[in-house]
Amino acid sequence: MLRRITNINELIDSDSLPRHIAIIMDGNGRWARKRLMPRTVGHRAGMGSLKEVVKACDELKIPVLTVYAFSTENWKRPDNEVQFLMKLLVEFLHKELDELNENDVRVNVIGDYSVLNHECQDEIQRALLTTRNNQGLLFNIALNYGARAEMVEAIKKIVDKVISGEISRDSICEATVASFLYTGGVPDPDLLIRTAGELRLSNFLLWQLAYTELWVTDCLWPDFTRENLFAAIRDYQQRDRRFGALTALEKGDESV
Ligand code: IPE
Ligand code: IPE
Ligand code: MG
Repeated sequence: MLRRITNINELIDSDSLPRHIAIIMDGNGRWARKRLMPRTVGHRAGMGSLKEVVKACDELKIPVLTVYAFSTENWKRPDNEVQFLMKLLVEFLHKELDELNENDVRVNVIGDYSVLNHECQDEIQRALLTTRNNQGLLFNIALNYGARAEMVEAIKKIVDKVISGEISRDSICEATVASFLYTGGVPDPDLLIRTAGELRLSNFLLWQLAYTELWVTDCLWPDFTRENLFAAIRDYQQRDRRFGALTALEKGDESV
């Protein structure tokens, strides 16, 4: 059991917070199965964790949080589960929008939500419009999101710009590609959290996670609390991020 932290400043260094945290919220089905309940009960319970984590990121002044809510591959699930997930999302945005807005959170959706039902699209539009000028936490919800589809779309947009002469082929660089992704203009995640123990990315932010620190926990998403988030951040703050270079200590070591 992680103890409840009352003063987070004691344990988390506020000078080296991740600028962007990404979360693969996995394990809702297993959480429900353990309780002999339908998977949908797990999804509903997972919404409580999401609410808690958004609030904690906001309080910590993390600039960006991106959560994986529904992948392009999740359409392979039974129709009733897919419909339930969409309904939950509408409900979440509906219930939480006022509080998110009061807390200056800017809601954004990454992924192709134009294929979702009208109720979903309307609720998303309302959340985007209501919070568009907010300056606090940028809360990205990855919905019908797949990193490969994102890259295909980016390539198409770049090709269009080359054909129209707006950009030249030779000027295309990594920054160009990054700018055409859904996350254009947003720093890459510093920390990726995956709950429920799987050691894979499941088509999430493949480009953006190139140098992200990974933190996987067996904790199932509905059991994930702010203490788990703080544990991940503390762990992240101990990491030696070299980005392919040497550590400061090694750089000064003549014997290398
Ligand atoms: C994550 O929980 C939620 C979504 C993928 C939408 P799962 O539904 O994948 O739960 P498990 O992995 O089956 O336990
Ligand atoms: C990843 O979880 C997608 C979301 C959390 C929305 P999945 O449960 O779909 O991933 P796999 O199938 O275990 O790779
Ligand atoms: Mg899963």
